[in-house]
Amino acid sequence: MSSTHFGFKTVDEAEKAKHVRGVFDSVASKYDVMNDLMSAGLHRLWKRYTVMVADLREGSQVLDIAGGTGDLSMAFAKKVGKTGRVVHTDINEAMLRTGRDRLLDHGFVLPTLVCDAEKLPFPDNHFDVVSVAFGLRNMTHKDVALKEMCRVLKPNGKLLVLEFSKVAKPLEKAYDWYSFNILPKLGQMIAGDDASYRYLAESIRMHPSQEELKALMKQSGFGHVDFHNMSAGVVALHVGIKC
Ligand SMILES: C[S@@+](CC[C@H](N)C(=O)[O-])C[C@H]1O[C@@H](n2cnc3c(N)ncnc32)[C@H](O)[C@@H]1O
Repeated sequence: MSSTHFGFKTVDEAEKAKHVRGVFDSVASKYDVMNDLMSAGLHRLWKRYTVMVADLREGSQVLDIAGGTGDLSMAFAKKVGKTGRVVHTDINEAMLRTGRDRLLDHGFVLPTLVCDAEKLPFPDNHFDVVSVAFGLRNMTHKDVALKEMCRVLKPNGKLLVLEFSKVAKPLEKAYDWYSFNILPKLGQMIAGDDASYRYLAESIRMHPSQEELKALMKQSGFGHVDFHNMSAGVVALHVGIKC
């Protein structure tokens, strides 16, 4: 059996998804408040920039993968109008349910689907834009998921990968101190769960760097890939074009 990483731990590949499910089952109800607290609201700006780069039109067909509590799905839905469609998906029912309820509270009725990014239940060449925000890091086979995202995009379609990345060198020490000392404590105080927020800090360190992810996206079928660093590389938006 092959192994992979879950944060800094080595686990059987077959077990990783179960561990990830445990994290998001545990944090789903406090996920939004924790996002605001941990990032001091910055995640809203990172997502706003992602929506701007998506450059959606009335009628666009959009797939939000690992959509969780629905921030991007909701922002996309405002752009595509009545003739467009945003499909809100996630592998985790608790996250998806929290997101669906929130979308309904804001008056958005979107198709909501439990699905694994590694086995997308959509035909080839179907979407204009596919997004995955803070989700790719948690996937067992990132290459398989990226190939699936490429498959379901139309030719010239755009993949947006918003994810934590490698922070600029001068900030490394302060960022590590914050990640390993403050994040788990915040997690414990607000969500009653320090382990999930320790996993967050660890999984960020194990995730490919900006250049490594760019190379992986190219190997997965994207003809053109570029990235935009935000907040000194705390987060990067990778944009892949299927061409
Ligand atoms: C940190 S949350 C991000 C939620 C939302 N996109 C956001 O930006 O706030 C990561 C999400 O990835 C989902 N996820 C993890 N592995 C997945 C997979 N293989 N397929 C689809 N979703 C997955 C988790 O269930 C979780 O909801």
